[in-house]
Amino acid sequence: MNIDAIIDQLGGASAVQALLGVGPSAVSNYRIRGAFPEYARVKIWQALKARGVQVDPETLELIGAVAEASSPQTTASTAASSTASSAASSGGVTAPSILLIISGGIAAYKALELIRRMKDKGWQVRVIMTKGGAQFVTPLSVSALSGEKTYTDLFSLTDEAEMGHIRLARDADLVVVAPATANIMARMAQGMSDDLATTAVLATGAPILIAPAMNPHMWANPATRANAETLKSRGMRIIGPDSGDTACGEEGAGRLVDPMAILSMAEQMLPGQTPLKNRRIVVTSGPTHEPIDGVRYIANRSSGKQGQAIAEVLARHGAEVTLISGPVDLPPPAGADVIRVTTAKEMLSATLNALPADAVICAAAVADWAVDGAGKAKLKKTPGQPPALTFVENPDILATISGHPQRPKLVVGFAAETETPVAHGDDKRRRKGCDWILANDVGAEAPVFGADDNQVHFITAKGAVTWPRMTKHAVAEHLATEMIKELTHG
Ligand SMILES: Cc1cc2nc3c(=O)[nH]c(=O)nc-3n(C[C@H](O)[C@H](O)[C@H](O)COP(=O)(O)O)c2cc1C
Repeated sequence: MNIDAIIDQLGGASAVQALLGVGPSAVSNYRIRGAFPEYARVKIWQALKARGVQVDPETLELIGAVAEASSPQTTASTAASSTASSAASSGGVTAPSILLIISGGIAAYKALELIRRMKDKGWQVRVIMTKGGAQFVTPLSVSALSGEKTYTDLFSLTDEAEMGHIRLARDADLVVVAPATANIMARMAQGMSDDLATTAVLATGAPILIAPAMNPHMWANPATRANAETLKSRGMRIIGPDSGDTACGEEGAGRLVDPMAILSMAEQMLPGQTPLKNRRIVVTSGPTHEPIDGVRYIANRSSGKQGQAIAEVLARHGAEVTLISGPVDLPPPAGADVIRVTTAKEMLSATLNALPADAVICAAAVADWAVDGAGKAKLKKTPGQPPALTFVENPDILATISGHPQRPKLVVGFAAETETPVAHGDDKRRRKGCDWILANDVGAEAPVFGADDNQVHFITAKGAVTWPRMTKHAVAEHLATEMIKELTHG
């Protein structure tokens, strides 16, 4: 590789410094070594490509006319003409830059999945690992996935020359701490800077997202609660932790949230990353209550957790979300307008009032029947004479929206099936005239109603895909990903 020619093509040493986020001595070292560090190869290749310079992506050898023209004389003039442009523009690199901090919890392995998902989005991911973090996953695995050097040491001479610790913090568009231990949260809350991770947190001007993971007692401890509140009060966002079995064998709140949920929150926190902006989406959720008389009603076991997760995730992706919710025992989801209803008829009328919309997601468990002639007065108990209730059919909200003159581009329903969920789900999709069905097997051993997890079959006109069992939040993320494709590209 003719390193001097490449530096010239990139606009000179200062442009390379800015492109790679390194100091002048690092570029001198590259010239002496005759090579760029491995982590910089893709970025250099992209930057050269953006300038119309062909290089071999593996070796960075210049190809064709530019290679032949790259004598010392000609490269000097090329450099002179191009130093005016900044490295950012020469690089053409507009991908968001994430600084991921991995601290020392058992969930550190899930950060590897998070890195993969971030890379899938085309984001640049630089990683700092605490000493504790490096006990659980190796910097080598992290670098293999991130394509970047992994930083672990505040007092590393080579790291400091190539990428000063302040620059590492200042270059980030978003800092994500995942998993966040009780320890790092305590140190962040105290404003400590006794290692590279906490120093970067103090030095950054970027928004900070924290995903805690720890033993449920550690999370519930008043010290951790106070630290979390302090961090929130300083504008940091905290996602999770989830409840359930933890790795230490105890049950309760402490599990790292699904990496897809972290990804979604990160996406929302990045400036300009709201793919569903200007899209209006209506979500129905929860059960309906159908009165028997003034004090009694017929209900079902829907908790509203899945619908609320969908509303929250879509709002995070920038959609204008109206959540029409039956009676549930949940706090309102962040970012959505909530309309509370009781009966199926009220839910239909609220849904119709919310049109026009780009999409309607019917996640509510709407009662099929209402009690005929239910009045306000309490039915009196007459011994030996139970009331003979008769039922009338409730409106079919999914079918009504699917056949409505103001039908949204995308109508999605849920199907709770006890057997052959894919066949029954697809049949429902055709009968109702909706686009997609998420069918769940409520006859399976694992509960769906009220649970935090769900296992669904995603059914469209193209066929069915079975998603693995995952949190309802992750189901919402998967659905959002499909919706983004449909509403923004299709
Ligand atoms: C096997 C093992 C698992 C641990 N898991 C966690 C955890 O999930 N969450 C946590 O807060 N601390 C956990 N700890 C304790 C932290 O590793 C310890 O507090 C450490 O000082 C954290 O340092 P750091 O925050 O700088 O990474 C664990 C320790 C061990 C030995």
